[in-house]
Amino acid sequence: MVVKISNNKVVQKAANLIKKGELVAFPTETVYGLGVDALNPEAIRKIFQAKGRPSDNPLIVHIADLKDLQVLAENIPKEAYFLAEKYWPGPLTFILDRQKIVPDEITGRLETVAIRMPKNEIALNLIKLSETPIAAPSANKSGRPSPTDAETVFEDFGNEIAMILDGGKTEFGLESTVIDLSKKPFSVLRTGAISKEELEEFLREKISIASHADSKPKSPGMKYKHYAPKAELVLVIPAEAGILCFQIQKLINYYKLEKKKIGVLCRNENAKNYKNADLVISVGSIKNLKEISSNLFRTLRQFDHAKIDIILSESFPEQGIGQAIMDRLTRASSKSIANF
Ligand code: TXA
Ligand code: MG
Repeated sequence: MVVKISNNKVVQKAANLIKKGELVAFPTETVYGLGVDALNPEAIRKIFQAKGRPSDNPLIVHIADLKDLQVLAENIPKEAYFLAEKYWPGPLTFILDRQKIVPDEITGRLETVAIRMPKNEIALNLIKLSETPIAAPSANKSGRPSPTDAETVFEDFGNEIAMILDGGKTEFGLESTVIDLSKKPFSVLRTGAISKEELEEFLREKISIASHADSKPKSPGMKYKHYAPKAELVLVIPAEAGILCFQIQKLINYYKLEKKKIGVLCRNENAKNYKNADLVISVGSIKNLKEISSNLFRTLRQFDHAKIDIILSESFPEQGIGQAIMDRLTRASSKSIANF
């Protein structure tokens, strides 16, 4: 059941479902989450089943009160409090040593736990009214692009879950930045709205960044194929920015000969340059990377709705949230065509 949020009674109803061990999807400022009582192992198992998610891929626990940090984590470094004061509620997830109270089902048996405080009134109210921390992965079937509106959650789950709280489109459209604070040097395990450089500047120390190519990924989720549309996505990274449109046009011409249905994902400024593609979707102005991030996942699904075979995607500058945009596009792509 998809429910538009009209008042707190609706959120109370959702909280009652959480207390009963049911799954409830809810909006956050990043993407929609599929929520469950974080302290109820049986309920948590339902999440993995509903998503088709490997059980070694741990979940983020969402809190509404800073006091819950100590309930769930131990050996908390002072930097966690500095970061919480600056960025919470907001799109930043901490990895910390876990307290025993955190079920193995949440952490995939790791000794650490992921925690964040989302910046969304509905999410915060839901957590408060449920009187428990809420574990929530993104509310998509495993491997698919994360949902940025309630309709997309419904597209993946239909009536498989007890309730979908509809809070409209999410602000960022990409998942939170995940920073491992359990050991020094701290490291960014997943890029997001808050960049590594911004965190380094704030903490005045070097932070490393986990590479996807690591044979032993530090964040288990990184080893799985992610965010993938049904179409084949080709990310085009030209040797110099000036030839991007030319390279994509060449690829359109090539795939056209193969009788493929072709989509192009591009910035507003370039949309008119492409000829003979079946569907061109501009995700926003290059002057506004946040607009591009908020439209990205929805756009990938739009290509699927149009039954596109090949998506040719432009690449974007890897500055600030641009790093996260390129990370998601890279992981959604079946191949990157780089350095022509
Ligand atoms: O913005 C977000 O973070 C959204 C909203 C709903 O909060 N949630 C989200 O959850 O993206 P999910 O499950 O799709 O991604 C969680 C990521 C995965 O890459 C997982 O491997 C990592 O966090 N993670 C969770 N616990 C971890 C841990 N203890 N150590 C390392 N990585 C962990
Ligand atoms: Mg996810």
